[in-house]
Amino acid sequence: MDREQMSNEENYCFDVAGYLIVRDVLTKEEIAAGNRDLDQKGTTPLSESLGKLRDHPVLAWYLNQICGEEFQLDREPRLIGDDEKDVGGPLVGGNEPRDMARGYYQQNDARFCQGVLAVWALADVEEGDGGFVLIPASHKNYVETPKDVLTGADDMGLTVQPSLKAGDLLLCAETTLHGMRPWKGKGPQRLLAYGYIAKTARRSIDPDATNEKESAPEWIAELTPVQRAVMQGQNFYHTYPPPAVKSDGETCWIDEAPEVHHPSIYTRDPESAIDEKELYFWDLCGHLVLRNVMDAAWLEAANEAIDKFADRIVVGGAPDKGSKTLAGTGRPDLGGLFELPKPYCDPFREMIAHPAVIQRLNWMEGSGFRCGNATAICSVKGTAGHALHSGSDPARPGNSYFFQNGRTYCDSVNVAWQLHDVTEADGGFVCLPGTHKARYPMPPGVQSCDEPMGLVQHVSMKAGDVLMFMAGAQTHGAYPWKSDTQRRTVLMNYMGRHMFL
Ligand SMILES: [Fe+2]
Repeated sequence: MDREQMSNEENYCFDVAGYLIVRDVLTKEEIAAGNRDLDQKGTTPLSESLGKLRDHPVLAWYLNQICGEEFQLDREPRLIGDDEKDVGGPLVGGNEPRDMARGYYQQNDARFCQGVLAVWALADVEEGDGGFVLIPASHKNYVETPKDVLTGADDMGLTVQPSLKAGDLLLCAETTLHGMRPWKGKGPQRLLAYGYIAKTARRSIDPDATNEKESAPEWIAELTPVQRAVMQGQNFYHTYPPPAVKSDGETCWIDEAPEVHHPSIYTRDPESAIDEKELYFWDLCGHLVLRNVMDAAWLEAANEAIDKFADRIVVGGAPDKGSKTLAGTGRPDLGGLFELPKPYCDPFREMIAHPAVIQRLNWMEGSGFRCGNATAICSVKGTAGHALHSGSDPARPGNSYFFQNGRTYCDSVNVAWQLHDVTEADGGFVCLPGTHKARYPMPPGVQSCDEPMGLVQHVSMKAGDVLMFMAGAQTHGAYPWKSDTQRRTVLMNYMGRHMFL
């Protein structure tokens, strides 16, 4: 490599999304040799071409930085999706409960990603081909992944299938939720995966390993089974997790149940009025959409009020910050909606303390929040987008997000009421899921959306839906407005009890 370190763009992308695609790493000859050997010999024994992919200098260069210390091979290559039983199974990964041997850490510019899945594309994978999928930002989950998301029964729109060209290298934190969906591509799926771990991380269990009980010192055999289990830890059994040695304070015993025993002082509260899927989505992405909050009559009244006072709309500057992608005309806003004459203020005053919103605000930032005024964004065709802003780096009191002891902490939440349908073709609100946990500076190309790195996500909504997002902590903005129908979003802010801005 002709540079010393990964760029900030690469660090930012891996840190926010939990994966990174390095384009055009392999030569045509390397791709052809890998495909030829896979056709003729499979993955075992390891052919020369697949050995070269395992030890490829570009891969080693990235692993040295991503793992943060020396790395080692943990799993020999396998063709993803080659085994029928891989396909359609639950996703693996996630960060709750935390696996210290595979976890992702980033603090004060030090990073340790204890497990990395390196996937070589030896054939193209187009959008919609299926196969390898992942959930961006899930390497930093604080909330347990709902079962429906793992199985795909209800993935909440979170699953992403990366598009790859032959010769690309996909690096994925092992705790980024990932798995296999049925392959729909035209040609064969040719994704070759190698597993790497940090030098000190626990290796994956090899079921064929020799039984180390036989090589233990003689005196170990004189111990009780409980004592032997404690002396030898996971070497006592060749399974992971090893059986738990439990104690009630009086006696110890071995619990053969195949799960980790790690007690918590907290239990889930079924009376918390928190929808667990919503909490998961909020923690993962930094925003949440409540569907169908407004009925037709309310929508009509709100739209009519804006039409009535259209002459008060003020066209401000274009907040595109010189972006090519977001360029356009100034943004038309109608402010002071709560102070419009009666009855035109009513549809907006109804938004101030709507139960659907208040219920969520209470678990998002705790009680004591206060509502600012409301502004309707009334973009017309050609109105500029809004350069991406906010995010949790650099850290400031107003842009932090924490999850601690079962509570989320976020001191500024924006609530955007949709008065018209909005699709990606129309433009409007975009965000970067996971940036409320970002630890690297936002790259300029991401801010402008000129080089979005596949991270920027548009949020489609119907009239009557309500979007809640972390105003300071989640990176967000807007695409230019391209529809003949006006954008109609009523934007309000709820500041938490701690902040006084
Ligand atoms: Fe904003």
